Formats: sequence, structure tokens, C-alpha cells
Amino acid sequence: MSAERTQVGIVGAGPAGLVLSHLLALEGIESVVLEARSREYVEHRVRAGVLEHGTVELLREAGVGERLQREGLVHHGLELRFGGAGHRIVLSDLTDGRTITVYGQQEVVKDLIAARLDAGGDLRFEASAVSVHGLDSERPAIRFTHDGAERDLRCDVIAGCDGFHGICRDAIPAGVLAAYEREYPFAWLGILAEVAPSAEELIYCHHDRGFALHSMRSPKLTRLYLQCEPDEDLDAWPDERIWEELQTRLATDDGFRLGSGPIVEKGITPMRSFVVEPLQHARLYLAGDAAHIVPPTGAKGLNLAVADVRVLGEALAAWYRSGATELLQAYSDTCLRRVWRVQHFSWWMTQMLHRFAGDDPFEARLQRSQLAYVTSSRAAATTLAENYVGLARV
Ligand code: FAD
Ligand code: PHB
Repeated sequence: MSAERTQVGIVGAGPAGLVLSHLLALEGIESVVLEARSREYVEHRVRAGVLEHGTVELLREAGVGERLQREGLVHHGLELRFGGAGHRIVLSDLTDGRTITVYGQQEVVKDLIAARLDAGGDLRFEASAVSVHGLDSERPAIRFTHDGAERDLRCDVIAGCDGFHGICRDAIPAGVLAAYEREYPFAWLGILAEVAPSAEELIYCHHDRGFALHSMRSPKLTRLYLQCEPDEDLDAWPDERIWEELQTRLATDDGFRLGSGPIVEKGITPMRSFVVEPLQHARLYLAGDAAHIVPPTGAKGLNLAVADVRVLGEALAAWYRSGATELLQAYSDTCLRRVWRVQHFSWWMTQMLHRFAGDDPFEARLQRSQLAYVTSSRAAATTLAENYVGLARV
């Protein structure tokens, strides 16, 4: 079996793995990124769309924000809609001018892949990590298959950026990690449609029939979601039924009209909260969805993945520069502070906006009261706004 060598072996070319590889290259640190899927697949996987203020700044400062700045849609506010009326939360007024940018995750991924390949970076697509070895040694290795052959990649450290279903988290010996988890009794049915957005900003809508979300990708592409059953069958949702349900949930007393158009993508996203602690074992560091999952209601998954690797990149840079291990040792604790803040925010948005099975009338009234409070109290709206645009320090 042939063996190769690099400084940092990265499993996964999602946002976490690609941003890490890019940040390391800026520090003169070599990495190899192994990605199980094809380049075509990862560049077209429709997922998140909201970038926090700090995520945009990081990408810009790292030199990969040029198209993002040109094509990203900067939003100063969002709408909470319930009881047939909309209520605007003016994010920028409540957060000293901070904003969010709507720019598809696959566009971020495309920009990062192009930047890495232009700089001569080593990204291997259709290269599946099978196992990791020697985590307790100074030369841990990733065993992977590529072009039908099995190889070893020897590294100084391994970054497990391989998402929730990856292999890195499970490679940590039993008893090291503690997992904290919550499953929600619903999922999201998401569509991408070729039609201009029906509003300039995102609309998070609480309705008796369930949650709905109006988002977008460009002036010609609308992204919409509907709360559905966790085991929902997509075949039960022909296009007309989706549009009717969206129109019903998003309706307002002053006659909001949802524009419709050809649906070009349809999928079900499960809802889960999940964290493992710690995010590190010996020479293996977990980052992004490999270590934690948030329900998408807070629009945080991608942002949290980027926040992790920013911390990891700085810690590895300090280590390579001077041998200092303090930042690496603090990696898990530093990240977990943000992870839990974001977990709470995502859970809070989820429980405020969805319809829960059983329709407990007491819970329903608490939800309404909370929505009324968030949309009428500056203090409560500020809590939502500062978490939504992303806390600079946690
Ligand atoms: P990923 O993007 O999952 O990247 C991990 C990569 O590792 C993948 O490319 C995978 O192919 C690769 N990989 C896995 N195993 C191996 C292996 N053995 N060897 C090599 N490579 C491997 N967030 C939102 O905020 N809003 C949304 O609407 C939203 N929708 C989502 C829909 C879906 C279906 C999913 C799964 C997630 C969604 N998220 C959403 C969450 C958000 O997209 C993630 O938080 C984000 O992608 C995390 O980035 P990551 O790099 O940690 O992981
Ligand atoms: C999206 O545009 O895909 C999106 C926006 C906000 C969310 C989740 C997803 O909370």
C-alpha cells in the first residue's frame, strides 16, 4: 500500500474542511483534503443560505469573498409572521449595523474549491476515508480509497470535517465522547423555485398548520420550506400541493401573494440538535457537523462550521510557528462555548415557530405570547437579532 505525507490531513470538503485548508495555506501550512463525493456533487448540493456577519468578514479577509460581495444579498432585517400579520425585526438597528448575507452554501463551496485549486492545493474528490490510525502517535494516518486503490495519508494531525455521517467521530474510542441530543417530531420540506422572491427579506412564519419559511438565493430564485412529518413521503407532495400549502401558511390579512414557478429542487431535511464533547481526541480534531448539528431554524449550521475551523486554524498556526500547544489544548472548550450558545438559539427559534404534535393549548398560548413579546420589546428583539447576525465573542 502506498503512503503519502502531509501536515494536516482533512477529511471532508464541505465548508469546514475547505475553509480550514484555505486558512492553513495562508499560514504556509500544507494540507490534503479527502472528499468522498465528486466535485460536481459537492458544488451542487443545495443546503444553507444565510451567512452571519462574521462569516462574511472571515471569507472576505481570507481573499475568497469577491463573488460573495458581488452576488450576495445583504439583509438588514427579517420578518416574523404570525396571526396573519408580519413584524419586521430590524437586525442592523439592534446590532450596531451588523447584517446577514444570503448566499448559497454551494456557492461558498465553489469559491473555496476554485481558490484552493488555483493556489495548487491538494483536494482529492471521490477519495473516501475508510479509517484513521495512530491517533495517539506523532504520525496519525488516514486510510482512504481513491481510483480503486487503498492508500495511507500520514499527517501531523487529522481534522475530521466529514459531517454528521462521517467516520472520524466514530473512530474515537468508546467512553471518550459524551453525546447530547434532541430529535424533533417534524422535518422541513424544502424547495428551490425559479421565481423572483415574493418579499425582499426572509419570512419566518408561525401558522396553525405548521411553520413555513420564505428565503431566496438570487433575484430569480426563491427557497421555501414547510414544516412536515419526520417520515414525510415526497411523492405525497406534488408541486401544486406544495404551493397551496405555502400560500395558506404565508397568507396575511392584507393579501400577501406568493409567486410560484418551476420547482428545480425538492428535499426533506430532518431536524436534530446534537453535540459531542470534547471536540478533540489525541491528534484528531472534529469540526462542523462531524461534532454538532443544529436544527436549521436559526440558520447556523454552516456558520458554526466556519467558526470551529477559524479557531482550529489559529491554533494549528501557533503550534507550527512556535510549538505552543495552549490554543490546541483549548480548542474544544473555546468552540463549545459558541456551540452551546448557538444550540440554545436554534432550539429557541425552533420551539417558538413550529407546531408541536398534540397541540397542547397551554404551549400554543406560550408560543403566541413569546412571538408577541419578541416583536414588541426592543430588549427581546435584540436578543434574537444579536444571535441571528452572530455573536462576535461568546
Ligand atoms: P458537510 O457540509 O456535511 O461536509 C462534510 C463533507 O464530508 C461532505 O462533503 C461529505 O461528502 C464528506 N465526507 C463524509 N464522509 C466522508 C469520508 N468517509 N471520506 C471523505 N469525505 C467524507 N443549515 C442551514 O443553516 N440551513 C439549511 O437550510 C440547511 N439545510 C441542510 C440540508 C441538509 C440535507 C443537510 C445535511 C444540512 C443542512 N444544513 C443547513 C446544515 C449545513 O448545511 C451544515 O451545517 C454544513 O454543511 C456543515 O458543514 P461541514 O463542512 O461541517 O459538513
Ligand atoms: C435558506 O435560505 O436555505 C435558509 C434560510 C434561513 C434558515 C434556514 C435556511 O433559517
